[in-house]
Amino acid sequence: MKISTIGSGYVGLVTGAIFSEWGHEVICADVNESKIEKLKQGEVPIFEPGLKELIDRNRTSGRLKFTTDNKEAVEHADIIFICVGTPAEERIKSHDQYLKRANLTYVGKVARDIAMYIDRPKIVVDKSTVPVKTGEHVEKTIKRYLSKDIPFWVVSNPEFLREGQAVKDCLDPDRIVIGCNQQEPFKTMRELYSRFPERIIETNIWSAELGKLAANGFLAISISYANILARLCDKTGADVGQVAKIMKADRRIGPKAFLNAGIGYGGSCFPKDVAALYNIFSEEGLDSQLLKEVMIVNDTQVEYFIEKIKEEVWTVGDKTFSVLGLAFKDDTDDVRESRGLEVLKELCRMGAPKIKVYDKHALETTREELERMGMKDGFDYNEKLLYCDTVNEACSDTDVLIVASESNEFKEIKPYHLRKAMTNGEMNRPSWIFEGRHTFNPTEMLKEGFIFYSIGRPFERK
Ligand SMILES: NC(=O)c1ccc[n+]([C@@H]2O[C@H](COP(=O)([O-])OP(=O)(O)OC[C@H]3O[C@@H](n4cnc5c(N)ncnc54)[C@H](O)[C@@H]3O)[C@@H](O)[C@H]2O)c1
Repeated sequence: MKISTIGSGYVGLVTGAIFSEWGHEVICADVNESKIEKLKQGEVPIFEPGLKELIDRNRTSGRLKFTTDNKEAVEHADIIFICVGTPAEERIKSHDQYLKRANLTYVGKVARDIAMYIDRPKIVVDKSTVPVKTGEHVEKTIKRYLSKDIPFWVVSNPEFLREGQAVKDCLDPDRIVIGCNQQEPFKTMRELYSRFPERIIETNIWSAELGKLAANGFLAISISYANILARLCDKTGADVGQVAKIMKADRRIGPKAFLNAGIGYGGSCFPKDVAALYNIFSEEGLDSQLLKEVMIVNDTQVEYFIEKIKEEVWTVGDKTFSVLGLAFKDDTDDVRESRGLEVLKELCRMGAPKIKVYDKHALETTREELERMGMKDGFDYNEKLLYCDTVNEACSDTDVLIVASESNEFKEIKPYHLRKAMTNGEMNRPSWIFEGRHTFNPTEMLKEGFIFYSIGRPFERK
């Protein structure tokens, strides 16, 4: 099949590369010239495990091409995938900061390009995460700007990949959702995903669109629930890890339930998708305080963590801090809405003089993000940071270590070596560890003499 993905970010690029791997002729388009130039030169502008190999292989075979020209992408394809961003719009109602509609400007622009350049019947697939009823707007927009009478069909095929595991998820998806209110496109879409016949869910376009937001909403609810339980555990002596284990043993909840307590969810999806879902309820005149609470818990979870740091460390101006994990999760370079970055910014605002930072893939994206912030808070964030190339470098000669994202690399750190590195061998120098994600074994850490705090896992501290 001839396929184009318009928007070549985490979703468009990975999806396009996978389709080419399955033997289709794919063009990935993007308005970002430097991104496309890099791709043409064999560089991959984002980090995703396995993506470079996939792209290299299919670019060399000629099945995967890149362009900045949406006309070329539209004309090439029988199936056009819209994969542009749908970020949260700035606050639209002053009385409720949590009402944030999804910004559909980019989707609208692509719909107009499709209308302009369509030259034969095509299937237009929305893969971006969008509010329910967006498909109808895409269809109307294309019809409004169409100059020739050419049939087209709008399908919703939401993407569920997880950053850091995007290639794996696309090769082994939990489900493939195909939503359309006309029958014509189903056969082609089924053929495209013929590798997973049992995982295809066919439905109308509204259910497909809402299903995606509903799934992210549910995951966010689970995380915020785990986080309020963690706060209760801190007060009562219960251990949130054990509490989650007990819950997961219930077959109606299940072992993979998203009940990991920590410093909250971040990334380019959950925060804006929960806000968009909350906004849809509001626009439909329905109450959804549940979703608002989820966002409030998430927003205050970093504050809660910072309070714990303040309580234990007391003065910050005389201490060196180290933060491990800057991306919003492991194995990605994406720092959008990253909780680690929030912690980092808060430490700077509190007057921490020097912060060593480490992330395997996100040092550059962090630097860029903080550069974009400029002097917003009256100082240059980057001047306070020491970017470290290894965990060891970040952990040596430092007073306070903060773990802000989950990572197997951090789990491998040996408590004895860590203590020695942090204190520079002066074993009577105090070392604080604050885990925003459960990483270490508390008993081992306490044995090594650390002052140790792990969210929702209270125990006797030194
Ligand atoms: N990132 C994820 O993990 C993930 C997972 C599932 C769904 N989604 C959804 O998929 C969509 C895309 O997410 P992403 O993370 O890939 O975004 P992204 O920001 O990484 O990529 C979007 C790309 O679209 C390009 N673009 C914008 N307007 C364009 C236009 N008119 N023509 C061509 N290109 C254009 C941008 O330059 C950018 O490179 C969003 O709706 C998101 O919610 C994302």
